Amino acid sequence: MSVQSSEKAPINRAKFATNLGVLAATLGSAVGLGNIWKFPYLTGSNGGAAFLLVYIVCILLIGIPVMVSELVLGRAARSNAIATMQKLAPAKQPWWLIGAAGVLAAFMIMAFYSEVAAWVFAYIIKAIQGGILSTDPNVTKAAFGDLVSNPVQSLIWQWIDLAVVGFIILLGVNKGIEGATKKLMPVLLFLLILVGIRSLTLPGAGQGLAFLFQPDFSKLTAASFLVAMGLAFFKLSVGMGTMITYGSYFRDDQDIPGTAVRVAFSDLAVSLLAGIAIFPAVFAFGYKPDAGASLLFLTIPSVFASMPLGGFFMVIFFILTAIASIGAQISLVEVPVAFLQEKFQFSRQKASIITVVGIAIVGSLAALSNSSLASAHVFGMTFFDLFDYATSNILLPLGGLFIAIFVGWVWGYKKLNDALSNHGTLSNQIIIKVLYGTLLVVTPILVAIVMLNGLKIIK
Ligand code: TRP
Repeated sequence: MSVQSSEKAPINRAKFATNLGVLAATLGSAVGLGNIWKFPYLTGSNGGAAFLLVYIVCILLIGIPVMVSELVLGRAARSNAIATMQKLAPAKQPWWLIGAAGVLAAFMIMAFYSEVAAWVFAYIIKAIQGGILSTDPNVTKAAFGDLVSNPVQSLIWQWIDLAVVGFIILLGVNKGIEGATKKLMPVLLFLLILVGIRSLTLPGAGQGLAFLFQPDFSKLTAASFLVAMGLAFFKLSVGMGTMITYGSYFRDDQDIPGTAVRVAFSDLAVSLLAGIAIFPAVFAFGYKPDAGASLLFLTIPSVFASMPLGGFFMVIFFILTAIASIGAQISLVEVPVAFLQEKFQFSRQKASIITVVGIAIVGSLAALSNSSLASAHVFGMTFFDLFDYATSNILLPLGGLFIAIFVGWVWGYKKLNDALSNHGTLSNQIIIKVLYGTLLVVTPILVAIVMLNGLKIIK
């Protein structure tokens, strides 16, 4: 992201330079381990195609409306997540709590996200060494098991990841990353397509495709609706202020609904490509679709093992995945950093260091969840699972719920219309009306029902 958000005066606040830059940064936040790691494993453990359909409905009726809301609020206030809600809310109403919950969520998401990124970093080295390149599930499972059950490796790779993310934010070389993401994203897409083609030509690939695209609705449970909705929030980086923060750097002439729709569909395309790369391989090599968090790290080496130059391509694959994860992590870390800078007038350096050290401390709980802390359970979950569950299934949906209610019921149609039409310069009246109606009624009711059901508060 090409921003140095240290200015306090709204006029001087940094902005993304170009419309393409905006799209790249926003997409850079959305696309990450969510597409390549989380989407396939959740789709796998929730029965496949039916889950995918629910997920897509959640993107349309919840994800996109909340994304537009966040972006437009951020741009209207030109502030960090908490101050945005303070500025735009009527006096004495505690809407800033949404932003505060977002800062908390950023730490919790980063705690486990940085550990998955750690596995990706470790896999770059493993790919170079070549030992994981195998179609034998025993070999790939042992390699992954060795890594995650090793506390030292788990911590060190996490720290390496956090150091990289921290340096990018701290040195303000975000611009470089924005440029890099813009150039490297197409390469990642190319590689995903390549792996997808190989995967589709594996013997038994049809079974994987059927799993991904032939819905069997009997597999859906109340819990899987909640997981699908949580994934929609997580994937689009909404519900916790990332998009408020990014929106605050948007230009006044940026078409916000257009950007949100483009980001959401491109993001879905990347997830589907990852699914097409992974599910045929699941069935071809005898893995289980519900292998959980390890799914990517087992299947991908097997696909590469069965193609020419696979060893080489696999190194590139994990490097690009690491880069995609860094773009997403920057957007997460930006939420507390922007807040600390503006609230306490910390320098960007100080805010970045405090944030990254804080994440490393909380993150060690997640990093050690498969080794030293494997038997430490809170609410029946390891810390890794707890951070993941609590953010995707509770904090992000709650944030989204209140953002939708705020825009629909408090901010209101007049302000929304003025802001989304860029003061009448865009002719997108119909889009705005549909969005407003969705935000007013559909989004809040859906989020509330899915949460109450999924968390077993009502049956
Ligand atoms: N969307 C990113 C991914 O899929 C993760 C992410 C970045 C995120 N920023 C976020 C998730 C804010 C929730 C909230 O990998």
